[in-house]
Amino acid sequence: MRVLLTGHQGYLGSVMAPVLTAAGHEVVGLDSGLFADCVLGPVPVDPRGHAVDLRDVSAEPLSGMDAVVHLAALSNDPLGSLAPELTYDINHHASVRLARMARDAGVKRFLYASTCSVYGASGADDLVDEAAPLRPVTPYAESKVRVEEDLMELADDDFTPVFMRNATAFGYSPRLRADIVLNNLVAHAYLTGDVRVLSDGTPWRPLVHAEDIAKAFAEVLAAPREAVHAKAFNIGTEENNVTVAEIAERVVATVPGAKLLITGEAGPDPRSYRVDFSALRSAVPGYQATWTVGAGAAELLDAYQRYGMTEDDFQPRFTRLTRLARRREDGSIDAELRPQKGPRAEPEAVPL
Ligand SMILES: NC(=O)c1ccc[n+]([C@@H]2O[C@H](COP(=O)([O-])OP(=O)(O)OC[C@H]3O[C@@H](n4cnc5c(N)ncnc54)[C@H](O)[C@@H]3O)[C@@H](O)[C@H]2O)c1
Repeated sequence: MRVLLTGHQGYLGSVMAPVLTAAGHEVVGLDSGLFADCVLGPVPVDPRGHAVDLRDVSAEPLSGMDAVVHLAALSNDPLGSLAPELTYDINHHASVRLARMARDAGVKRFLYASTCSVYGASGADDLVDEAAPLRPVTPYAESKVRVEEDLMELADDDFTPVFMRNATAFGYSPRLRADIVLNNLVAHAYLTGDVRVLSDGTPWRPLVHAEDIAKAFAEVLAAPREAVHAKAFNIGTEENNVTVAEIAERVVATVPGAKLLITGEAGPDPRSYRVDFSALRSAVPGYQATWTVGAGAAELLDAYQRYGMTEDDFQPRFTRLTRLARRREDGSIDAELRPQKGPRAEPEAVPL
């Protein structure tokens, strides 16, 4: 298939592009490059791509495509809460616009990167499956719910949207994010010796490795239409339904000398949900997420040691919120997060 991969220069996109290419697809990227130089380790070889903001994209990149894998978004709760109106513009309106243009251009399949955060405050009593009520508690999660609703309206005989509700990702990507829970805790432990949990540790937070997400997308791209048409799928594995305290304990067990501090200073976290991941396994026999949290912690520690994660990079380069704030300050993006022309104040990533 010819696949347009939006967000190909992000954390998940940089893992997804080679997986889709290895599955035999011709991948074309689309990204405004907000984090293109947030690289830890060897600089990834990107597929050719369109350097464009999602809000400004024309129909041209969609011409001749068989499928769209849509990852580009402001990608987490703190970003969404900082700028709710930008989150709705980019994550909701621009995504629905892209899907409409895709359908008009004859694209058959549209895989949308949604999130298990749509279950929000579902609690720990039952495993939530795809039919569970959606209880988003942040603008980010709300934007994902709205896109799912609007894309469902577009489904027809010729256009198959699929809603990929990813658990919280972990693991090494050459374009690292250190603001997602396992990546963050391992980095903090490696740099300071502390594993600091700011909540009381009790919220459930299902996790899934970036590579297992990429493989799920590859499987759904190739699946028969009737198995996936207009369906939502939770992406992950029940084994990785863990509490934040359990995640922290795995990090303590992985990083030599690390000490656990559960401070509770951030107050109660309403986002808590345990997830049933069986629907994708039924729809796509043979798919199984295989990475455990412990194996992911070990992989991250190895990458941080091998490629030299430093205090100086941890926040400014690998934390999405801080990164965007710095880029706004240095003028390389404007207040609406559109890249500006001119010399960059930050050094480019150096290949090792
Ligand atoms: N990482 C996770 O834990 C996780 C979990 C569930 C869902 N998701 C979803 O998966 C997708 C990818 O997440 P990620 O972790 O790779 O995030 P990321 O922030 O690393 O990547 C997002 C990419 O989108 C691009 N982008 C953002 N706004 C854009 C715009 N206006 N125009 C063009 N490009 C734009 C960025 O430049 C970046 O390359 C997102 O939709 C996110 O909501 C991620």
